[in-house]
Amino acid sequence: MNRIYYFTGSGNSLYIAKQIAEKIGDCEVIKVTNKIGISEPIEADVLGFVFPIYAWGMPVMFKNFVKQIQINKADYVFVITNYAGNCGNALKSFQKEMIKKNRDIDAFGEVVMPSNYLVMGNAHPKEEAAKIIQKAKPTIDDYVRNIYDRKHVPIKKVKFAGKFLSAIIYPLFASNVRKSDKSFFFSDNCNGCGICAKVCPSENIILNENKQPIWQHHCEQCHACIHWCPQRAIEFSKKTLQKNRYTNPEIKVSELF
Ligand SMILES: Cc1cc2nc3c(=O)[nH]c(=O)nc-3n(C[C@H](O)[C@H](O)[C@H](O)COP(=O)(O)O)c2cc1C
Ligand code: SF4
Ligand code: SF4
Repeated sequence: MNRIYYFTGSGNSLYIAKQIAEKIGDCEVIKVTNKIGISEPIEADVLGFVFPIYAWGMPVMFKNFVKQIQINKADYVFVITNYAGNCGNALKSFQKEMIKKNRDIDAFGEVVMPSNYLVMGNAHPKEEAAKIIQKAKPTIDDYVRNIYDRKHVPIKKVKFAGKFLSAIIYPLFASNVRKSDKSFFFSDNCNGCGICAKVCPSENIILNENKQPIWQHHCEQCHACIHWCPQRAIEFSKKTLQKNRYTNPEIKVSELF
């Protein structure tokens, strides 16, 4: 049995994990959330990890998950990250965590995917996002072949700027992320559907008696609530007003519940 663990906000990581799982076969695809069990040591033939880059590092919940897991058996281990522009030193940081468990990585991968980041930038509009996904497909197929052939793929060298951003910005992001949800608010468009609460990987949103979302200050900044809200009712300060919303076009919202 093969196993892929993924973390996602807008669905890109699940898209990549599913592409690989379908092609290698006999594969469980498991979402990393705050409810994931870590007590059982992992046993798999192929063991994979797919995660998005946040502030040139790993999502905090995903990093904590990697720190805590135990691995009993994994014949081949791969990790694939996806990002919009620059992944910094995140793969090296992932590798360090795995080496602490005496299990180095057999294959590293990086895929450029559409941006879902809104706070200091903007998400790609639909047409541009579709082109980026088309461009990513051959890269994902190459990774599938590598996995099939159990090929060793070394980590890519990271330039000084990437290392610098990971070393300086990521720790600031990680230490502030949980309470960063103070800037979320919702508009009158909210219809109380509860999708924001269902897609949140950290159960950080509860609905009050009027079925309005309340953020609980253990946020991951995954942006899932903003992007998947069918009413476009969620904003993060004034920074997200008038900006695009993006969800991976090949992923259904129910796959994140
Ligand atoms: C909080 C946050 C921080 C991000 N930081 C980076 C970054 O440092 N570098 C980058 O290239 N992309 C960054 N992104 C973009 C995502 O890594 C990218 O869109 C990814 O494909 C999203 O994957 P997902 O759909 O699985 O959530 C960031 C996105 C978010 C939400
Ligand atoms: S997903 Fe949007 S519309 Fe639905 S409850 Fe949340 S904020 Fe309201
Ligand atoms: S509150 Fe929104 S941004 Fe924060 S973890 Fe949940 S879905 Fe992600």
